Amino acid sequence: MTDHVIVTFEDGVQTLTLNRPDKKNALTPEMYAALADGIERAETDPQIRVTLFQANGDAFTAGNDLGDFAKAGSAPVTQSNEKTPVARFLENLATAEKPLIAAVNGLAVGVGVTMLLHCDLVYAGASSTYQMPFVNLGLVPEAGSTLLLPRLIGLQKAADLFLTGKKISADKAEAMGIVAEVFADADLRAEALARAKTLASKAPNAVKITKALIKSDDRKAVLEQQRKEGEHFGAQLRSAEVKEAISAFFEKRPADFSKLS
Ligand code: COA
Repeated sequence: MTDHVIVTFEDGVQTLTLNRPDKKNALTPEMYAALADGIERAETDPQIRVTLFQANGDAFTAGNDLGDFAKAGSAPVTQSNEKTPVARFLENLATAEKPLIAAVNGLAVGVGVTMLLHCDLVYAGASSTYQMPFVNLGLVPEAGSTLLLPRLIGLQKAADLFLTGKKISADKAEAMGIVAEVFADADLRAEALARAKTLASKAPNAVKITKALIKSDDRKAVLEQQRKEGEHFGAQLRSAEVKEAISAFFEKRPADFSKLS
């Protein structure tokens, strides 16, 4: 249980609200677990027709908690069959049969963007921004994004976002097809909830089948890509590249990779 994710229900919509605003909603294992549980709950509870992700404060999420990355990178390697909360969350995103909607306010960084590639509808506040600085941190993209993003926006545009880690605006994200619709910041929550409720009122099987058809039933390929990315991600987490990048973040200085080969 964590109060960093607030779970509410209204008219067939389960809303999962990220609630760690002082840390820009950086995601901890407890938060991933709550999000993963939320998706599982929706899949089994007939009262829940749609899950809506949103966030309190001025950021959607600054991505994975970098302190946790540092801890994970220095922990002893163990073999366990138990999935980590983040693995469970990413897998549940990829396999959810019921619709997932996101209302993105402020910053979306790292997994805050890659999770959107699994959402069926992404609504954006006008001032929201999108950035995937994995490479800048010595990491590789995850969540199946190396398959999903090039497919969505093309190879050049995907490489531009992944390799530079540049930040793009809501309008640009909409033009690229990452976002369905942009709203004034003040209207975002109400507009997203209204749309989620409308979707929740529709014929549930028609919605589910349509979702599956739109996604070309490619779950297997996405899960396989998540597995491949996860192997590289885990290895990079233990690398000197990540140690330097994360130390630089907390020391509030630019990372220096010049001495690494
Ligand atoms: N992990 C852990 N803590 C984070 C965090 C993260 N991903 N992102 C922000 N925070 C914390 C900061 O350390 C700071 O904590 P403090 O008040 O105890 O010092 C607080 O959240 C506010 O962040 P701050 O950096 O002061 O806000 P900002 O508006 O100047 O910048 C960001 C916001 C998101 C641009 C910046 O915090 C950032 O680059 N975060 C890292 C994002 C990232 O690389 N995520 C991983 C992607 S794979």
